[in-house]
Amino acid sequence: MPNNKIILTLQGAIQEAGRCLLCHDAPCNSGCGADTDPATFIFKLRMGNIKGAVRTMRRNNVLAATCAQVCPTCRLCEEGCSRSGIDEPIRISAIQAFLADYERREGMHVLHAPKPGNRKIAVIGSGPAGLSAATNLAMKGYAVTVLEKRSEPGGLLRYGIPDHRLDPDILNHEIDLIRNLGVKFECAKPVSSKTELNEFFNRDFDAIFLATGYDQPYDLGLLGEDLSGIMNWEEFLRLSKGEETRDDLREKVQGKRIVVVGGGSVAMDCAVTAKMLAADRVYAVSLEAMDELPADMDEKELAFREGVRFKSSCRLMGIQGENGRIKGVKGCEIRWKKPGWFVPENAQDVSGTEFSLPTDMLIKAIGAGFSPELQATLTSLNSKDGRLVTSVQNMQTSDPRIFAGGDMVASGKTVVTAVMDGKKAAEAIAEAFPLSTTVTVPLPKRPSLEIEFCGSKFINPFCLSASPVANTAEMVSRAFDAGWGGVVYKTLNIEREYKIVDPTPRLNALHHGDRRFIGLQNIEMVSERPLAQNLKDIDWLKKRYPDRIIISSIMGYSDEGWIELAKGSEDAGADMLELNFSCPQMAIEGAGHTIGQDYPALEHFTKVVKDNVSIPVIAKMTPNITDMLPPSIAAKQGGADAISAINTLRAITEVNLDTFAPMPTIQGRGSISGYSGPAVKPIALRFVAELAQSDELSLPVSGIGGIETWQDAAMFLLMGAANLQVTTGVMHYGYRIVESLIEGLEDYLESKKLESVTELIGRGLQYLVDPSEHHQTKHVISSVDVETCIGCGLCYIACHDGANQAIRIDSDTRTASVDEERCVGCLLCKHVCPVWDCISMKEIDGINVGGMHGDAIRFVGGK
Ligand SMILES: Cc1cc2nc3c(=O)[nH]c(=O)nc-3n(C[C@H](O)[C@H](O)[C@H](O)COP(=O)(O)OP(=O)(O)OC[C@H]3O[C@@H](n4cnc5c(N)ncnc54)[C@H](O)[C@@H]3O)c2cc1C
Ligand SMILES: Cc1cc2nc3c(=O)[nH]c(=O)nc-3n(C[C@H](O)[C@H](O)[C@H](O)COP(=O)(O)O)c2cc1C
Ligand code: SF4
Ligand code: SF4
Ligand code: SF4
Repeated sequence: MPNNKIILTLQGAIQEAGRCLLCHDAPCNSGCGADTDPATFIFKLRMGNIKGAVRTMRRNNVLAATCAQVCPTCRLCEEGCSRSGIDEPIRISAIQAFLADYERREGMHVLHAPKPGNRKIAVIGSGPAGLSAATNLAMKGYAVTVLEKRSEPGGLLRYGIPDHRLDPDILNHEIDLIRNLGVKFECAKPVSSKTELNEFFNRDFDAIFLATGYDQPYDLGLLGEDLSGIMNWEEFLRLSKGEETRDDLREKVQGKRIVVVGGGSVAMDCAVTAKMLAADRVYAVSLEAMDELPADMDEKELAFREGVRFKSSCRLMGIQGENGRIKGVKGCEIRWKKPGWFVPENAQDVSGTEFSLPTDMLIKAIGAGFSPELQATLTSLNSKDGRLVTSVQNMQTSDPRIFAGGDMVASGKTVVTAVMDGKKAAEAIAEAFPLSTTVTVPLPKRPSLEIEFCGSKFINPFCLSASPVANTAEMVSRAFDAGWGGVVYKTLNIEREYKIVDPTPRLNALHHGDRRFIGLQNIEMVSERPLAQNLKDIDWLKKRYPDRIIISSIMGYSDEGWIELAKGSEDAGADMLELNFSCPQMAIEGAGHTIGQDYPALEHFTKVVKDNVSIPVIAKMTPNITDMLPPSIAAKQGGADAISAINTLRAITEVNLDTFAPMPTIQGRGSISGYSGPAVKPIALRFVAELAQSDELSLPVSGIGGIETWQDAAMFLLMGAANLQVTTGVMHYGYRIVESLIEGLEDYLESKKLESVTELIGRGLQYLVDPSEHHQTKHVISSVDVETCIGCGLCYIACHDGANQAIRIDSDTRTASVDEERCVGCLLCKHVCPVWDCISMKEIDGINVGGMHGDAIRFVGGK
């Protein structure tokens, strides 16, 4: 099976995750036999929630790092990847390997187990099935002992899969994670009979998980098989992996002629390993033709590359020996009697095709059966075709105290299926033998995301903002279930005053390069639904989710209208109101952002509402003005308890080059209308900071505009937002983004050693000054890391034409360097460099004008 060993850099992993389509009901997930949930860990990585991605991966698969190296992904998770419909599948195992590496480098402790309760479980065999069962049982509070016949745990991962495909260090690290959960390993302890198994039950073990694999290799059934120089795959690969035995084996293989019998993955591993041990000639002899070989394509390709010669559609007829050693083999070509049935009984010799191969070593790799030590036990349990029979759902054997999994229960298995069997068995054992004592997992305390805003407690600061994402109770209820702390329900209006009919199409997305949906233009007005229906929904939501905050967004067109909407919302149970003074495309005069720019009217309507309700009132501001303070102060004078900013920006995102009309185009014509999403974040941050900084205003601010990731959220909080609202991020990716917003923000607080999100609010404002206040005593210049520089010269072009001609490219080494005398430290070069962190900032003493003046003289003076 392939070697997936590439460890991506952070940049590489994020870029690869950036190719992922973030599918609904993702096919990659159903392809992964261990339920590792690649779709979620890639989504989390994409949302900048790297530690969350690690947690998802690790909690689902204790051997995630190992799997990332050895999974035959082309027939597992990557096989059905939707991205294949565009170009290549996502390199899922490479992302997984990156995450596992990140986890280790960061010293993360993802798995936790409680102090064991009153039940003991014996796991026999420490391959992936046993390791997975042991982990999952320990995490549930069971005392687990793993018994292993070999001197170290790991099964075929340690003694079978060659080191060139699986680094033993990765396996050792994962086994250490399992030991740290309190799992006990008793190695060099073969369990060997039914009586011995019964002794386990006498030793207070409640149940057994059997996972001894298939480690009894089959013989060829030819005369001479006991000659020296003949080995089976198990012995050959085990010796090739042992530190003490490898050199000895190399001596036996180096310069020799090797024949490997078999055409599967194990045979390919043996053949390639023999080549790597410097064998002179390696033949792989198989009954199957090349295109029938059970080995995967990349395994065959690797064998070809290593120089393995294939003798396919061939059968070994005999072994020749001399002085007790093998000296050759004889064979002949075959054809199948019945097409498509690849078993020895179906092979027919083709006369005249006999051949002989001088051979110094023969390796048998034609399959295996049950561990011999357990034959007595295994015959007492139900089995079929040489495999133990277990329930598919719970891995239980015909003895209700014995569960089994891994290779011993089904053929053609992989590491992931063994991991899954272990998980299933752990669930089933916990159900059949429940703990009677209470166990608690010692989970580390996480920082608190609770905030108080306008007198209400929010479980976290993340709210849906008024828009289609908060259109109906059904939608909002799904959002709450996903973890959102509150909602600003889609703006209510009174249909008898103005009947809303939104135009179609009403959206246009702005894409930039390969990045889709960085901005969204909409020409939608307030809610089209009847007021009574919306109020009923608010009422239902508040009753159903008493711990979530419901803010009713309203827009009236007269005093009566505002009062009716405000009172109706209060009566329906809304915790607060948001007054929409900011919709930029209301088709009715004297509504939306026109009120937001008419300060007396804004103050008046705020006061009208305040005088008629007792719940807090937030005024939502338009960003389509230069200074947001005057309208906000007007709202305050009207009695507003808080300000929310921003609504959408008036914009034209695109013009259709065929029809000449702005987009979205409605029956041939477009309009200036509301623009939102990541592209407006910088403008939103600016408005929020200005409001939060104002002593005169001194009201809490709800931050809105382009929030997608926890990093965006943290920036709004640092710039003074006391609560956060999101629309476009949800329209693009769904309610699911809240998990990464929460997890990522908690991790960030932890990394800053902060206990509560409230400690972030406004913390960055002290560093925000007017540009005229930068009195510098030191300058920075750029500095290129020649180790990572790829010599693309983008920094050169940018600096040459857009800055101060301070970058040089060495034409021999193709690396960039900085002329420190000329560099003015604008850092344009850093921003265009495609290798993250290749160009950094270096502080210098004093001020560097970068020879600007000298250049001018030189140029004027004629070169
Ligand atoms: C050469 C080779 C390469 C492979 N490459 C891949 C690959 O790249 N990707 C992939 O997904 N799969 C691969 N596989 C398949 C994969 O390794 C197996 O499917 C998987 O290891 C099965 O796990 P298991 O826990 O059932 O058994 P095993 O890994 O076989 O572990 C069984 C354990 O039980 C122990 N044991 C046996 N008898 C007793 C006893 N009586 N008492 C106590 N302990 C006992 C054994 O010593 C062993 O440690 C490969 C298999 C081989 C042979
Ligand atoms: C399609 C759409 C409809 C919207 N409808 C409303 C609305 O009814 N009331 C309102 O106050 N804001 C409305 N907004 C604005 C959003 O609530 C939010 O202020 C704005 O989109 C910026 O946030 P974002 O970048 O997270 O989307 C709407 C936005 C979009 C994209
Ligand atoms: S465990 Fe293996 S099959 Fe599953 S997602 Fe990871 S690499 Fe793919
Ligand atoms: S199937 Fe492919 S594109 Fe879709 S979520 Fe999975 S990895 Fe991403
Ligand atoms: S842009 Fe970056 S990678 Fe390219 S030459 Fe300059 S420093 Fe090197």
